[in-house]
Amino acid sequence: MADQERNILSTPFVLNGRTLANRMVMGPMAANSPREDGGPSEQTIAFFEARAKGGVGMIIVGGMVGAARGVAECPVASVLQMQDPKHVADFRRMTDAVHRYDVPIVAEIMPGFGVMGVPAADRPNISASARSVTIPEKEFPRGFIVPGGRTTPMAVEATIEQIRAYEQELIETAVLTVESGFDGVEVAAHMSYFLSSFLSARTNWRTDEYGGSAENRARMLVNIVAGIRARVPADFIVGLRITANDYMPDGQGARGFAEIAKLVEAAGLDYVALSCGCYEAMKASAPSVDGDLVDSGDARIFKDLLSVPVLIQGIHDPERAGKAVAEGHGDLVMLARPMLADPDYARKVCENRPEDIAKCVRDNLCMRRMVFGMPVRCEVNPDMGREARKGLPPVNRMLKAPIEKAVLGLTGSPWFMGLVGKVMPKSD
Ligand SMILES: Cc1cc2nc3c(=O)[nH]c(=O)nc-3n(C[C@H](O)[C@H](O)[C@H](O)COP(=O)(O)O)c2cc1C
Ligand code: SF4
Repeated sequence: MADQERNILSTPFVLNGRTLANRMVMGPMAANSPREDGGPSEQTIAFFEARAKGGVGMIIVGGMVGAARGVAECPVASVLQMQDPKHVADFRRMTDAVHRYDVPIVAEIMPGFGVMGVPAADRPNISASARSVTIPEKEFPRGFIVPGGRTTPMAVEATIEQIRAYEQELIETAVLTVESGFDGVEVAAHMSYFLSSFLSARTNWRTDEYGGSAENRARMLVNIVAGIRARVPADFIVGLRITANDYMPDGQGARGFAEIAKLVEAAGLDYVALSCGCYEAMKASAPSVDGDLVDSGDARIFKDLLSVPVLIQGIHDPERAGKAVAEGHGDLVMLARPMLADPDYARKVCENRPEDIAKCVRDNLCMRRMVFGMPVRCEVNPDMGREARKGLPPVNRMLKAPIEKAVLGLTGSPWFMGLVGKVMPKSD
């Protein structure tokens, strides 16, 4: 690796007074094995501790909700429940474990899943406007075989009362992240989830103060970020995860999303973390090749418009990642799947031995397991998800593992899934 590039990724970076030892950030992932009640388990703590020990510059905790509705409609098996004050002491144990390695840790809070949520008879999904999402078969990421694609149930338009209640709940949850020892909080407004549905005229056709102009479409995020900023210490990190580009022909493009981010920045942000695509263009969210955000120029649009640091995603090769930072496409590099594959990724980059990194092969087994409600595991790292385990697996895992293997085998078979596609009724 060229010296300059290694030095850039290995350089400390100061984020609102917190010093990151380097510019590699663990991206948010629902791979945490929470307890059934939504608190962090011993496995959750060991999982993050291993990444902190591996020298990453900062950790962003994903798979976490920040509002009660998010728990009720969550499409994955289990999530960390940051909105529940009863978990503060356990989250404190988790943040303490990470801080022992001088690594800042940020909580990503998701209010709800919007049109991607799991509705109930008395709880239809809510979104900025009444719509559903169709994921065409060809848009599923590598490894997913979904004949005919998938269409979500229709969501109803969120009421002003629901929007304002969400704003307040997220602000209160952010206060709990401070009490839990986190260094920062990240508001999640990406993919097709609730907050992101407000950002573009493609998904938001409201005529009240939350729809129409860019100011109105940014209003909910502005209210949340301003409300959080007023309640947390001045040196607490407040970040935003936002769609960089939805890649839809009728979308607003990177410039439209960057303009929204600019409005939110003024409410008190410390960073903006970019996410790619939306569920209609889901493949982009878990890219099979490095550098989409850089090669398209999308990251640069955010860098040019914003004053706060920009976190880019999707570059697994440390040399390319260093080059992207050196060329000014971003300030910090988020690594999600690479952190499952190798918890020591950052240390190996800092020690200039990239050849020793266990590379993510981008087969998305981790995501498939998450989608099928199984504990997340990694194809190339047998310790992933088992960091806290000593000795033999617990009995329930011994019983479930062969069933999971069979389900993954069948759902990964084009022949079997093709048959399912023929006999199953098509989605509307
Ligand atoms: C198993 C899994 C779970 C994920 N969960 C979240 C999440 O909870 N919040 C989020 O913002 N992104 C989530 N992501 C998306 C990642 O943060 C990241 O954007 C994506 O994996 C692409 O980056 P990568 O190439 O570095 O993996 C998840 C990804 C994976 C693989
Ligand atoms: S190698 Fe591991 S982290 Fe990468 S896609 Fe496969 S399972 Fe996920």
